[in-house]
Amino acid sequence: MTIWNLGSINADYFYRVPHLPAPGETILADAMERGLGGKGANMSVAAARSGAHVSHIGAVGPDGQWAIDRLTEYGVDTRPIAKLDAPTGHAVISLDAAGENAIIVYPGANRELAQDAIGLALTESSSGDLLLMQNETNGQAFAAETGSKLGLKVAYAAAPFSAEAVKAVLPYLDILVLNQIEMAQLVDETGLLPGPKMGVDTVIVTKGAEGCTLYDRANGWDAIGFDAILVDPVDTTGAGDTFTGYFLAGIDRGMSTDEAIGLAIKAAALMVTRQGTADVIPDLKEVLDWG
Ligand code: RIB
Ligand code: NA
Repeated sequence: MTIWNLGSINADYFYRVPHLPAPGETILADAMERGLGGKGANMSVAAARSGAHVSHIGAVGPDGQWAIDRLTEYGVDTRPIAKLDAPTGHAVISLDAAGENAIIVYPGANRELAQDAIGLALTESSSGDLLLMQNETNGQAFAAETGSKLGLKVAYAAAPFSAEAVKAVLPYLDILVLNQIEMAQLVDETGLLPGPKMGVDTVIVTKGAEGCTLYDRANGWDAIGFDAILVDPVDTTGAGDTFTGYFLAGIDRGMSTDEAIGLAIKAAALMVTRQGTADVIPDLKEVLDWG
């Protein structure tokens, strides 16, 4: 089956800093690097490197061919990526000595994709395929509605968080992935808790070094905890995206939810030991051989 990922594509500019800057503070970076990123691209690369067939629906600017080339190199089908007359998205990522980050994303072309282009891409999908989305592009509600009508299983990673954006896709969702801060915001702003009222089948709340919690209709919505694999963090950027990409790839090839989470936890932990985003996401063999 194919994973259709409506997702962002960014140039990630990494700055290694002794600590994250405080309001009004000017600091010097020790190092700077540029790579491929964007929550969408990271998830596409993670799923593709773990063996899934991934078609990325998205947009770059006239200067974005390098990003398309890199996605292709990492095994992603890039035919549904449009080149628009808007700047390629980028992210400014400050990375402190403990591997924690602060990120500013400029969406640019990522939020200019025409609805028609999304619809056209999805006409090539088949019932039983997966549709994945995050909140760095436009068009999620339209894609979710279209995908669910076509018989696709619809998954959404609620980052960057917006309660409005979650509410717009919720009626069509099968799988919701969010971190514990996003979950708290969702509860706060909508009153919705993982359970029958949410209308999805599976909710996964990721908790960094504390692992994740699964809430599943099939298990009667009991909270099921999974431990993280503890590592010395080098860079946590992209670890959550790697988790989601690996998890969905596992579901796509028929793994149980538990098995897919186990694999995704391992891939995310390995990712935390590496500096960078899409360019350093491990493939399946690296994940299985590690630790
Ligand atoms: O989740 C990490 C990603 O967030 C980075 O790759 C950056 O581009 C932003 O989208
Ligand atoms: Na990383």
